[in-house]
Amino acid sequence: MIENLNNRERTHSCGALRKENVGERVTLMGWCARRRDFGPLTFIDLRDRAGITQIVVNQEKAPQAAAKAKEVRGEYVIAVIGEVVLRDETARNPKLATGDVEIQAAEIVILNDAKTLPFQLDASDESLAAEDLRLKYRYLDLRRPQLQANLRLRHRMILEINRYMDEQGFTQIETPNLIKSTPEGARDYIVPSRVQPGKFFALPQSPQIFKQICMIAGLDKYYQIARCFRDEDLRADRQPEFSQLDVEMSFATPDQIYQLVEGLFARLFRLQDIELQIPFPRFTFAEVMRRFGSDKPDMRIDGMELQDLSTTLAETIFAPYASVLSAGGEIKGIVVSGGASMSRKTLDELQEFAKRYGAAALAWIKLGDEFSSSLLKVLGHDVVVDLAGTVGAQKGDAVLIVAGKSDVVAASLGALRNEIARREKLVPENVYAPLWVTDFPMFEFHGDDGRYYSMHHPFTSPLDDDLPVFERAVNGETELFGQIRAKAYDAVINGVEVAGGSIRIHRRDVQSLVFKALGMTEEMARARFGFFLEALAYGTPPHGGIASGIERTLMVLVPTENIRDVMAFPKTASAQDLMIDAPGEVDAKQLEELHLKIVKA
Ligand code: AMO
Repeated sequence: MIENLNNRERTHSCGALRKENVGERVTLMGWCARRRDFGPLTFIDLRDRAGITQIVVNQEKAPQAAAKAKEVRGEYVIAVIGEVVLRDETARNPKLATGDVEIQAAEIVILNDAKTLPFQLDASDESLAAEDLRLKYRYLDLRRPQLQANLRLRHRMILEINRYMDEQGFTQIETPNLIKSTPEGARDYIVPSRVQPGKFFALPQSPQIFKQICMIAGLDKYYQIARCFRDEDLRADRQPEFSQLDVEMSFATPDQIYQLVEGLFARLFRLQDIELQIPFPRFTFAEVMRRFGSDKPDMRIDGMELQDLSTTLAETIFAPYASVLSAGGEIKGIVVSGGASMSRKTLDELQEFAKRYGAAALAWIKLGDEFSSSLLKVLGHDVVVDLAGTVGAQKGDAVLIVAGKSDVVAASLGALRNEIARREKLVPENVYAPLWVTDFPMFEFHGDDGRYYSMHHPFTSPLDDDLPVFERAVNGETELFGQIRAKAYDAVINGVEVAGGSIRIHRRDVQSLVFKALGMTEEMARARFGFFLEALAYGTPPHGGIASGIERTLMVLVPTENIRDVMAFPKTASAQDLMIDAPGEVDAKQLEELHLKIVKA
């Protein structure tokens, strides 16, 4: 029977009671996580956000409560009134903070019942129900203590950010969500206007332009915990809607921004009792790509750096390699320490893995008891030995080799480095390895539509040294675009890009040149960014900033590989909210008001 709460009040949470409370009469409220019957005794694990307390109901001492206890099923909401007693020595549970005590129930009140759950809440991580089912019933999944702990950590992190940024003299400023497109490389979510027929707002991919305008306004030090919206292909570490700590500073040097962020991260990691080493080491983009094949290398992994084999193979007549080299490509290898014991099956799997990153093939050399290699027949014994020597492979090691365009070689070997480390458990736990990656390329070429795009965003300043080359590129020598470096930087921890930013363009003429480089005519630039070009003309201070992904940072702090574990109401990989069933259809009247017509393809 369900009863009202009436004027009963909780005295303690389900995580609060200790030995010191023995003898107290208490009232606890929460959910029945588990009920077990042992003859005249019924045990209930009572759960709330703070923990679990064991309730014991004794048929002889409290017959009414015992009868009630028998009605209680999983996830029923109950109130328990009773006395805190010490558990028998043998019955104590060191895994529970409340494990020394239990409540001897005098009264049990059923406040609400619950249907049988669609999945088990207390399953171990490996046996969790399918994620789609858990997302549909997110409110049930959120009852799991781990998710609740993650959300509380998120809350403490945001508090700490606010404290730190305030101490550093920053002002939190909210910028609007109904805006015009601010490109960050994704598609916009757009919102039709009712009062302006045929016109649309875009939701911000980031507050980028607004924060720069705050600098033009003289606000000097801005920050915001901002919601960002990006319609892009989703991956395990991406969500269409996510939060950033967004920062902008006038007269900022990269060093000032690095120090600000390092100080903040040191504070945030302390929330989990982790001492993060600062300052972070710095690497240029060119160096990390050359050595690790990734712009977000996991520095916890020892060795397996990419090594060049192009010189050793410069004279090769093996056609696939010769043609790669003559086309300006490269051949590189990594040494897998102890890899000589890798089976044929493992090598085949790694080959398939490398192919996903565009590699045509994965060649191997094994320095086992026998010297073997997939290249012996085509290159001959001496050359293969020479290759193993070039990369410094030792007895017992394996060498994995990819040939192709330099971006494919980097991507495939860089991914293999991570994959092998993961498979072989070479990534140490409880180690945090941050770095800055600096001097990103200003532009990247997209083969699909044959033009250059901003690698960071169009408001990023080129390196001063590269300005002359930039001007030449804009004036027709387009092949130079790929060489221009930007004052852009990312912070990476354990292979996760936790922040990215840049020093901005503060000169209107340079900004116009960048728009031109991106293929915008003057009219197009004026239509999209005219207001901003205009603003730049009224005394814009040099400025720069950064944005740090709240979820990404939490993923490292928790740690978890799944971004959905650190947000309350995430979306699926196909950008849906399964709980509220969004996106959904709207009725004809709403469409009409918005001057929209659905055209079915
Ligand atoms: P950027 O696009 O690099 O820079 O984003 C900054 C940081 O936000 C996080 N992030 C994401 N997190 C979850 N889901 C996503 N889809 C997602 N996309 C990005 C990452 C990333 O490092 N306006 C610039 C910042 C600046 O220049 O100041 C910007 O948004 O952690």
